[in-house]
Amino acid sequence: MPLNDATIDLICAHPPYADIIHYSDDIEGDLSLLPMKDFLFEMGKVAQEFHRILKKDKFCAILMGDMRKKGMVQPLAFETMRVFELAGFKTKEIIIKEQHNCKATGYWKTNSIKFNFLLLAHEYLFVFKK
Ligand SMILES: C[S@@+](CC[C@H](N)C(=O)[O-])C[C@H]1O[C@@H](n2cnc3c(N)ncnc32)[C@H](O)[C@@H]1O
Repeated sequence: MPLNDATIDLICAHPPYADIIHYSDDIEGDLSLLPMKDFLFEMGKVAQEFHRILKKDKFCAILMGDMRKKGMVQPLAFETMRVFELAGFKTKEIIIKEQHNCKATGYWKTNSIKFNFLLLAHEYLFVFKK
């Protein structure tokens, strides 16, 4: 059952970072199965719904990171921020959080030397205000 409009005081969410880690093989609606473009489209619906249920002047915090494809950085985090702004949120804070020493860091470290790129070692906590 959908939540009523403007009834929620605080939203915190840590969505998948598009399809960089698959959290299921085939669960319908699993955002972690979507490539960046499709992921952002679906996150647009999420942002609209979050905006609808949040009370005015309250906050929505989203943790999001970037990704790398074929050696190039894909700025997934800022694209996600833009999607939330398009849904009507104002960006109150951008908090940069260190993110490394993960399960996959060894893989990325090896490839960063081999293919000459920097490691992505941070992610963003966006704090949006309605
Ligand atoms: C980056 S992880 C966050 C994990 C979380 N911080 C925790 O400690 O459990 C993203 C999570 O979003 C879940 N997820 C993917 N699609 C979803 C959807 N449509 N609705 C809700 N959760 C979803 C994934 O299964 C995964 O557990």
